[in-house]
Amino acid sequence: MDKEMMEFFFKIHNGDFRGGPGSDISTERAYNSAKGFLGKNISVLDIGAGSGFQTRVLKKLVDGKITALDTTEIYLTKIKRETGVETVNCSMDSLEKSFSHASFDLIWSEGAVYIMGLANGLKHWKLFLKQGGIIGFSHISWIQDNPPKELLDYWEENYPQITTLDENKKIIDEEGYEIKDYFILPSTDWTKNYYEKISERLGMLEKNKLSPVEKDVVEMHREEMEMYDKYGDYYGYVFFIISLK
Ligand SMILES: C[S@@+](CC[C@H](N)C(=O)[O-])C[C@H]1O[C@@H](n2cnc3c(N)ncnc32)[C@H](O)[C@@H]1O
Repeated sequence: MDKEMMEFFFKIHNGDFRGGPGSDISTERAYNSAKGFLGKNISVLDIGAGSGFQTRVLKKLVDGKITALDTTEIYLTKIKRETGVETVNCSMDSLEKSFSHASFDLIWSEGAVYIMGLANGLKHWKLFLKQGGIIGFSHISWIQDNPPKELLDYWEENYPQITTLDENKKIIDEEGYEIKDYFILPSTDWTKNYYEKISERLGMLEKNKLSPVEKDVVEMHREEMEMYDKYGDYYGYVFFIISLK
């Protein structure tokens, strides 16, 4: 994305709503699954925290210290201001720049591991997990067989790394983890919590005269939402709770 695109992208994703599909209810459900494997006074790293919607939920639930990590400073400032949680501007693929190995009891990441790829993420993050630690993350997945060609073409162009639920389970296994629990996020985590908010923002921003680049960004979002509207039964976010074998 060039500078103009990026600036307009952040006008849409201004931190007033989640940075991807999800909900407080799903965060809480996933945390409750993880909780039984964790002790008291734990250290938690929230990777790709965005503007901190899941961080706020974790803050209410966790007995311990949370650190929120992202590379977008405006989001980190918002988290710090609104929650008091410690923030770190660091790339998720270079955690050694900010943390020692075996630092965290719980590594959390909603809708962000796709940035480095599931296998790479699990390989790198493992180093920073304490023995007996847990990783909770949500990640895109095919959830129904035989997707239509229009949808396959769309994903091929936008995120060709998307894999099936079974393939994601295999990656988790191959990276040395076992699955403690998993569930598919409900469609309202996409619609009510995410796409409806984007639609509202697009409507507001379109009241201004948009440049051709800005129109392209609007179009990109509309296409994504249309795909979900038409074919959302074929793909979803799966929340996994995993531990080292
Ligand atoms: C799809 S959003 C998810 C945000 C949040 N977890 C949520 O679900 O609302 C992905 C986040 O990853 C952040 N990000 C992008 N590249 C990153 C990197 N290399 N390291 C850490 N965070 C990154 C973005 O700034 C963005 O906030």
